[in-house]
Amino acid sequence: MHDIIRQLDAERALALLGGGEQRIAAQHKKGKLTARERLEILLDEGSFEEWDMFVEHRCHDFGMAEESVPGDGVVTGYGMINGRLVFVFSQDFTVLGGSLSETHAEKICKVMDHAMKVGAPVIGLNDSGGARIQEGVASLGGYAEVFQRNVLASGVIPQISLIMGPCAGGAVYSPAMTDFIFMVKDSSYMFVTGPEVVKTVTHEAVTAEELGGAVTHTTRSGVADLAFETDVEALLMLRRFFNYLPLNNRDTPPFRRTNDPADRAEASLDTLVPDNPNKPYDIKELIHKVADDAEFFELQPNSAKNIVIGFARMEGWPVGIVANQPLVLAGCLDIKSAIKAARFVRFCDAFAIPIITFVDVPGFMPGTAQEYGGIIKHGAKLLYAYAECTVPKVTLITRKAYGGAYDVMSSKHLRGDVNLAWPSAEIAVMGPKGAVEIIFREEKGDSAKIAAREAEYREKFANPFIAGRRGYIDDVILPHDTRKRICRSLAMLRAKKLENPWRKHGNIPL
Ligand code: HXC
Repeated sequence: MHDIIRQLDAERALALLGGGEQRIAAQHKKGKLTARERLEILLDEGSFEEWDMFVEHRCHDFGMAEESVPGDGVVTGYGMINGRLVFVFSQDFTVLGGSLSETHAEKICKVMDHAMKVGAPVIGLNDSGGARIQEGVASLGGYAEVFQRNVLASGVIPQISLIMGPCAGGAVYSPAMTDFIFMVKDSSYMFVTGPEVVKTVTHEAVTAEELGGAVTHTTRSGVADLAFETDVEALLMLRRFFNYLPLNNRDTPPFRRTNDPADRAEASLDTLVPDNPNKPYDIKELIHKVADDAEFFELQPNSAKNIVIGFARMEGWPVGIVANQPLVLAGCLDIKSAIKAARFVRFCDAFAIPIITFVDVPGFMPGTAQEYGGIIKHGAKLLYAYAECTVPKVTLITRKAYGGAYDVMSSKHLRGDVNLAWPSAEIAVMGPKGAVEIIFREEKGDSAKIAAREAEYREKFANPFIAGRRGYIDDVILPHDTRKRICRSLAMLRAKKLENPWRKHGNIPL
């Protein structure tokens, strides 16, 4: 017995050392933490239960029999974040570059399977050189086993990827299928093919950072949601982010007590919208002033900035917020913004998180770039997402709600539950100028006549009353009452039940 315990201690010590002191030092030198150090920050102190510490790979080719390290390059198990259960895997770059072998994949699959059985999220900390080259197809099979589980878990349990090192080749597709991707600046990158291959095939000279670094994916491609400066910052923010998510699709989103009164009036909102309809204002000011304790966890803040998405709380309950941003492209909907918001709406819908939509949208973005890029299909994604969605939906039109974009942005017609408008709302097929130029084309040369027509159009349509008369708007509210009215609406909707017709699955325009 004593011998076994001694052996156990020795094996544990070996596993804890991963790839050894030297490689740990190299990892630290790059500003990166080790797989276990990361889990210590991510999880509540002392809560981590590790599994499969003694698993070793089964490869004998290319001298691999001598290259075995207990744990095989990934630390797996479960623990708590602020007292709530989560399954985790953390790839250990010090062991064969965190590369994914057949057994490494089996360890990941084991925690994913358990997470599905008990209904708890999975967080993956990715730091890997990709498929374990020595294992060939066994490793590729391992990836595919993980992919399959990502898909089956989608919409059942939240899945989050934190990219903390290399992530290349097909390896990027597991994170791509998770709900959220966070990255660390200067030490993580994601690409399907690296700079060398790019150079050979397209003759472009590009660095790994430019091709697939955190800044690239949070500004240009929109692949990742957030970029952080360091491992520690990313892990601590992930802990905060986790507080907004339910554990699974049958769980209630986590309530957090607040002292912020639900009926708090916010007088400054009465002057948020400028008198000049062409002058922009910052929609985030509205979000912060309405949300509990002015807290808003924004996602993708530097990509498709013409739409704002993220989580907040109202009376303690998590909500998803989608808002047109008049500061950027006048808040127009374009390809990138439609995709960004559609995926977020679908996440909220899958996990029973109510959605608040703030609307100030002059329409879809015109132009060849958008049409050739497929705005028809991509814009339809957001339309589809809102129309399919059955969670409570509260919509507030602050100013413009023009054309198809009025329909798309959680309108009454797409089963918006409570649709409110400020007195400054303008709900019409298009803005007065454009409308008059079309319907009174023959008067184009007569500027006095055109001005009168514009005034007439504005008087008739550039207000919330026509929509109000039809019941498309439930009420016109004073801006300072916005928080109170939204809180009441959400409280009224808390027991909402709505189901879509049975089907295998819909066919969202991909
Ligand atoms: C086996 C690997 C490995 C891999 C790295 N290592 N990647 N071992 N399989 N895929 C080992 C190295 O041999 C080295 O071992 C240690 O990990 C650290 O690697 P370094 O190269 O010294 O580190 P660094 O300079 O930081 O470079 C990291 C790297 C580079 C950029 C990730 O290692 C690299 O390019 N690796 C290969 C990447 C790759 O092509 N993977 C396959 C992608 S295709 P020692 O013993 O010296 O410490 C793919 C298909 C998936 O993944 C398909 C799914 C559908």
